[in-house]
Amino acid sequence: GKRSDVEFDPKDLKLTFSAIKILGSRYLIKDPETGRFIETPQMLFRRVSRAIATQEYKYCIQQNNNEDLCKDRVKYWEELFYELLSDQRFLPNSPTLMNAGTKLGILSACFVIPVRDSIVTPDGEGIYDAVRAQAIIFQQGGGTGFDFSELRPEGDIVSTTGGIASGPLSFMRMFDVNTEVIKQGGKRRGANMGVLHVWHADIEKFIDAKSGQLKDVNLQNFNISVGAYDYFIEAVMNGGSIPLINPRKTNLRRDLGNNSKFYAITRARHYLYEDWVQEVIINELESKGGSIWLDETILLTIDEAMIIAQEEKAIVGYVNAKKLFEKIVRNAWDSGDPGLLFIDTINRRHPVWYLGKINATNPCGEQPLLPWESCNLGSINLEKYVEYDEYGKPRIAWQRLAEDIRVIVRFMDNIIDVAKWPLPQLEEAVKRTRKIGIGVMGWHHMLIKLGIPYDSADALYLAYYLAEWIEYNAALASIELARERGAFPAYDPDKYRPTWLSAKPLEELLAIASIDAKPSKFILELLSSRPQIDWNTVEVLRRKYGIRNAALTSIAPTGTISIIANASPSIEPIFAVAFERHVTVGKFIEVDPLFLEYLRKYELDSPELIEEIARRGSISDIPYMPRTIKLLFKGALDIDPKWHVLHQAVWQQWVCAGVSKTVNLRFEATVDDVRNVYLLAWMLGCKGITVYRDKSKAQQVIYVGVKM
Ligand code: CDP
Repeated sequence: GKRSDVEFDPKDLKLTFSAIKILGSRYLIKDPETGRFIETPQMLFRRVSRAIATQEYKYCIQQNNNEDLCKDRVKYWEELFYELLSDQRFLPNSPTLMNAGTKLGILSACFVIPVRDSIVTPDGEGIYDAVRAQAIIFQQGGGTGFDFSELRPEGDIVSTTGGIASGPLSFMRMFDVNTEVIKQGGKRRGANMGVLHVWHADIEKFIDAKSGQLKDVNLQNFNISVGAYDYFIEAVMNGGSIPLINPRKTNLRRDLGNNSKFYAITRARHYLYEDWVQEVIINELESKGGSIWLDETILLTIDEAMIIAQEEKAIVGYVNAKKLFEKIVRNAWDSGDPGLLFIDTINRRHPVWYLGKINATNPCGEQPLLPWESCNLGSINLEKYVEYDEYGKPRIAWQRLAEDIRVIVRFMDNIIDVAKWPLPQLEEAVKRTRKIGIGVMGWHHMLIKLGIPYDSADALYLAYYLAEWIEYNAALASIELARERGAFPAYDPDKYRPTWLSAKPLEELLAIASIDAKPSKFILELLSSRPQIDWNTVEVLRRKYGIRNAALTSIAPTGTISIIANASPSIEPIFAVAFERHVTVGKFIEVDPLFLEYLRKYELDSPELIEEIARRGSISDIPYMPRTIKLLFKGALDIDPKWHVLHQAVWQQWVCAGVSKTVNLRFEATVDDVRNVYLLAWMLGCKGITVYRDKSKAQQVIYVGVKM
């Protein structure tokens, strides 16, 4: 019978089969009774653009009190938004595509929920409060991250009942089952990030939770990461032990009555185990006139803290740092879990560090967030900004990209107000900082179009310059919005720590990774075509007008939206030029569109060859494949892990939040390879790191971490 009650727009016919299949499975609205589509892809883009543009009216009418003018303004922005989306130059994250303009109100993909060491708490932050929040968020297609480090370890006492504590791992199983149950009724299979900080007494159990016999069984809806501090990695490199702590026993626990105090104390408890605590706390003291922070126990050096912890008997043992690290890398080699989160790097570079310490990220790692915070994501399709001059030579449309970013920042800022937040804590936290996460997709495709191999210094030079350009224009746009709508409420001009002031120079990164290649003439030409950047002016403007969004950029995996846009995902190298993709709705073979173009150019586009390539999964050992094709179309597994890490690190320099990246390893990769990747990531200033070794799990999506 007829599957749809609507006519397709000619623009829809440009979408790929996979795109339509994905859109049809969850995104396009169906008539609940007949099950037929009542929406085409273009109607979806229209619905989203319209819903997000309505916010313009609210801002406009406050200032102008002229209905006609404001209606026109809404129309104006709606058209600009629609053009971006329908042209696939930019797509917001899945929850916005699914829910904008419908009854469901969550439009963001990323959430972090606190888990305090109580069954429930009066302010809704206990373990079962978190389970409830998780269910509500999943129902509407968001993903959740949790730090479980405040939970007392397994076997510890429960004073109210005289019983024995289950520990973080048991509670995590419950969050996992919750995910399983909700997925049947929800928008998509929910994903979680579970974090345990390296000082927690149960850390070894945590590290083992998804490996060996447990790997295809336990916590299947979780990515897990160890919260790794600098002192831990330094102990790994220099030798030595680290203390293991029972969080319940530290003397810093206080009555829950005064919320803000409890909050400060909780932060302090975490800070205790970090070196940079002094700077932060002293800063804080000065700015707050010393009020809640005048608690002498907070002003401790790490050594003093350790002595007190020992006196309190909060230290339950010591573990050799190297041994613990070996366990981590062995398990990551075996199953992809655990990853690492570099907690110190995250907090050092957190623009609104004065609001609290970040202890967890969303499921795929691109959003380190404060408790209850969320962030909406949206990604620019970079491939669309490659143009050709009259001689067919490729170049980058820098100016056009800048203009689009201006529209995108507006779109993303509107989302925060248009969203309907199902829990008051979520709304409060997100509106305090108004973080947005602009990312990219089609990065490898862009490189291919420019004729630059992914594993080359040229690619890193371009990444660095391009990421800076995106951040620069996003910052200008957000400052412009602040001028119009005001800065984010928690903005503090003196304390705000702009990302652009702490980017490491590219040369430093290259030196750390021992890359001594110089940029080519072509790349220097390309870079010099970029309009001038002046960060000093940005700082002057920021001080004058403030900034609308505490964080601007974030590199998401774009698991689904890159399929819709037919772009290479995120900043990842293409997985393979032809491969099978497994998703909930089935499996299909995909050939990379640019690869097909190249094959045609060389008259190699026979179906037999494509089938052979799909079977092999790589073109590296097909003898008659031209060298250019081999260099440009190297897949994720053919690229040395070092280059994976370098791309992540280079982008990270200009990204306010995090970069989601999976370092794909070949099946033959060794534990040494994983160790090198993990340490290199830390040295290069990444905020976290994850690897996935091919075939190391029974079921794999094209890249791990994105569970579709
Ligand atoms: O492409 P799409 O917008 O669907 O999402 P993505 O960029 O692959 O993932 C962005 C974020 O969405 C992830 O980091 C998760 O926080 C969340 N997500 C989720 O909760 N459940 C999924 N099945 C996929 C993504």
